[in-house]
Amino acid sequence: MNSSANMDKLSTVKIGLFCLLFGVCAAVKITSLKVPSTYLLDKNSKNPDPLILDCEYDVDENEKGFVLKWFLDGQPVYQWIPTKNPFPFQSFKNRVDTSYVVSQERLHKHRAMAIIKPLANFTGEYACMVQTFASIDRKSAKLKIIVQESKFDLNYYLNGDGYITVDCHARDISPEPELQIRINDKIFETPKPRSVLGENNLYNVSISGSIPKEELESPTMIECYLTVPETNYTKKRSTIYYGKCQTSRKACYCKRFFSPPLFACFFRFCCSWCRRMLLRGYVTYAFLVVVYDGVFFGIVYL
Ligand SMILES: *[C@@H]1O[C@H](CO)[C@@H](O)[C@H](O)[C@H]1NC(C)=O
Ligand SMILES: *[C@@H]1O[C@H](CO)[C@@H](O)[C@H](O)[C@H]1NC(C)=O
Ligand SMILES: *[C@@H]1O[C@H](CO)[C@@H](O)[C@H](O)[C@H]1NC(C)=O
Repeated sequence: MNSSANMDKLSTVKIGLFCLLFGVCAAVKITSLKVPSTYLLDKNSKNPDPLILDCEYDVDENEKGFVLKWFLDGQPVYQWIPTKNPFPFQSFKNRVDTSYVVSQERLHKHRAMAIIKPLANFTGEYACMVQTFASIDRKSAKLKIIVQESKFDLNYYLNGDGYITVDCHARDISPEPELQIRINDKIFETPKPRSVLGENNLYNVSISGSIPKEELESPTMIECYLTVPETNYTKKRSTIYYGKCQTSRKACYCKRFFSPPLFACFFRFCCSWCRRMLLRGYVTYAFLVVVYDGVFFGIVYL
């Protein structure tokens, strides 16, 4: 931080001197830094999209001594001088497509860094620095590499003691994600999630909780959300809990109080379950009892 502040101060002085001496001020200036905030790494993809970091700037054609550098967390990873080939440093060797050309203009051709097959540890703060004999500019932005999970599952099962256990887990993901279970769209309070970091630097995480069977109506929507903090990476798994048929073997009915927005979804799940009971021969009749806003509304045969 301190050294970059000093560098900025120094560059301001340099630019000031340059302007004073030549009467024109042709400082190099970064106009746009294009570093995506996240990059999704799919372990199963043979040819993932390159990760392209671009740095747009204004620079006078006549300026001397142009150099462009990319840094990751303060360490140089790429350098380009227009008379030479782009040069990736040790940690990015064989990971940069040095033939990538973003613009045909002489002082812009290889300004972008095209990273092929990024590694999970390429997460960090990327800085682009452009400099000429007369001036310097630098901008940086954070990037997070997300390693996509290999498995993400949600299950429920009935315990012997009359409880239903809901279990949700994800395997081989990075960085560490958060899991949340929702039952009928309400957060299901569970003990703390478990998380283990493997030798491959990927996490296995799981969350589970139990609820007395009587507290779950049938059908009930159960969902699990996976999110990577500070990113837009979100995934969802959902399942529907079906309990036992509520009446005798002769008839099957589903009954619930509901408000209008739930209607379509409720109707579909409940009725498909009831109808399935009918088709499988578990029941002779299937019908839906409609209770709307606490008022008995009618019976629909399925
Ligand atoms: C990333 O990890 C690899 C090993 O998997 C290591 O060789 C490399 O130096 C690391 N790069 C950075 C930027 O930490
Ligand atoms: C994560 O889960 C996978 C698949 O079940 C397993 O092979 C691996 O050993 C687990 N890693 C850890 C650190 O437990
Ligand atoms: C999430 O997405 C929104 C809109 O696409 C974007 O403005 C925002 O910067 C993103 N946030 C992160 C942390 O990536």
